[in-house]
Amino acid sequence: MADVIVVGSGAAGLTAALGLAQKLKVLVLAKGSLTGGSTAWAQGGIAAVLDAGDTFENHIRDTMVAGAGLNRQETVEFVIGQAPHAIDRLIELGVPFNMEDDHLHLTREGGHSHRRIVHVDDATGWAVQSALLKAAQDHPNITLLPGRSCIDLITGRHELRYSGSGRVWGVYALDEATGRVETHTASATILATGGAGRVYQFSTAPRGATGDGIAMAWRAGARVGNMEMMQFHPTCLYNLEVKNFLITEAVRGEGGRLINPRTGKRFMPDYDERLELAPRDIVARAIDAEIKRDGLDYVHLDISHMPADFITHHFPNIYDKLMGLGIDMTKEPIPVVPAQHYTCGGIVIDLAGRTDLPGLYAAGECTESGLHGANRLASNSLLECFVFGEAAAADILDHWDAFDAPPPVRPWDESRVSDSDEEVIIKQNWTEIRRFMWNYVGIQRSTKRLERAAHRIKMLFEEVEDYYGHFRVSTDLIELRNLLQSADLIVKSALRRHESRGLHCTRDYPRTEEQALDTILVP
Ligand code: FAD
Ligand code: SIN
Repeated sequence: MADVIVVGSGAAGLTAALGLAQKLKVLVLAKGSLTGGSTAWAQGGIAAVLDAGDTFENHIRDTMVAGAGLNRQETVEFVIGQAPHAIDRLIELGVPFNMEDDHLHLTREGGHSHRRIVHVDDATGWAVQSALLKAAQDHPNITLLPGRSCIDLITGRHELRYSGSGRVWGVYALDEATGRVETHTASATILATGGAGRVYQFSTAPRGATGDGIAMAWRAGARVGNMEMMQFHPTCLYNLEVKNFLITEAVRGEGGRLINPRTGKRFMPDYDERLELAPRDIVARAIDAEIKRDGLDYVHLDISHMPADFITHHFPNIYDKLMGLGIDMTKEPIPVVPAQHYTCGGIVIDLAGRTDLPGLYAAGECTESGLHGANRLASNSLLECFVFGEAAAADILDHWDAFDAPPPVRPWDESRVSDSDEEVIIKQNWTEIRRFMWNYVGIQRSTKRLERAAHRIKMLFEEVEDYYGHFRVSTDLIELRNLLQSADLIVKSALRRHESRGLHCTRDYPRTEEQALDTILVP
């Protein structure tokens, strides 16, 4: 049996596993493949103060400005202070960051006052995922178990003899190949399950980003925070066949301009003095406003004024992908639209990655650590995964003597369910949620639209819970249930915030209040 269970094999989960494996046995569970999370898809890079002209204070200020003051200063200082160490650790693991002469090459993205993004071409995430995975596969104390869709946390109410300790003892997980539900227990559990982006119709996130960890923690009794802060990336490729291909912000960082295809005019000067390098919420709203005002399908992102070899050298993967679709970015503009990209809110954690529930930790995109506030600064997310993955592991190791062995728990009860004969219900509900979330809970919100979404969610809850109670679980059903739970948390949080701040922009409360307050939901 493992000492610690880690749910998720992205940047946060594998960092935690590698830290723990120095002394403990670790079991890593992952839905689908081990590379199925957002980490493998990250393009731009990782933010860290590494340039002589840059300072921690600059990075802290940029993070807080992007976060519209909702960030927790203590967390911001902690994470940014740890960033150079995190990059050193990745270099040790073999991540081949781009170099210029004998220095790391630093690119630039929106909201950053300096060049401070280390990267591996325009496919940083794949390089990071591969290095972490190789180290985990090579480690004798780590067992990797893909193809496991975790359903719920095992808590006190699953103990055979209730102890009243209130601890989390592991997870029930569906073996995707056999359809059987397994019971995995351990003294500590870390959720590193990524975001809930797929709650929206258009998202850059992979299919499995259905908010599973957030929903599991909420159902078990942990608080979640700032779920209304859903980030929309300004530049997702507009293509009828390829629906979620990101065009990295680094394209704008290296000179790309946003053009209204109807007028041929560069429009960011009308919105913000930082032009295309304003924080994401501002650029996404500007694009949304141009699209809505002129009835456009997309706007153009144009970097064709830069030399062709500069473009192909900096963005080899994007160039190849676009050439495959008949778009030559060295000669013509790229059609782009905003799409959901990142879940800023999540399970509330402290600086050691501890949640409200004893024995339960969380790290990465599924959390609300206080780093991002009302809007995440570009390339601060992978950084958060490394810092909190390591912090959670260190806290467990430091306090290991105080962790009890798990008690006997009840196995998963399937005695009252049967096989579903109407899979169509899952598909229909999934599509419906994603559509109304896009239309009612998107970039521009209003109380009326949010109330409409809340009404739909209430009706769907009944249907989905009824279905869940009667039929054998499948990954699709687990995801639908979590997607709906995430949608509910987002809408409830949005209805509670009576102001516009960062990513939450509502017609009914256009002012930003003086005091920045978190939206904390208590189960
Ligand atoms: P993920 O990497 O998403 O991993 C989640 C893991 O949890 C997966 O292994 C998944 O299988 C598992 N899981 C989920 N649910 C379950 C379940 N029920 N049971 C078992 N396992 C489960 N950030 C940056 O800082 N820089 C960038 O350049 C950047 N580019 C991005 C580009 C794209 C296209 C996207 C989508 C995001 C980008 N981000 C970037 C954001 C960043 O990639 C993510 O926030 C980060 O990788 C999240 O890592 P994570 O470890 O928290 O989760
Ligand atoms: C990008 O490359 O534009 C994504 C960076 C991020 O999400 O931090």
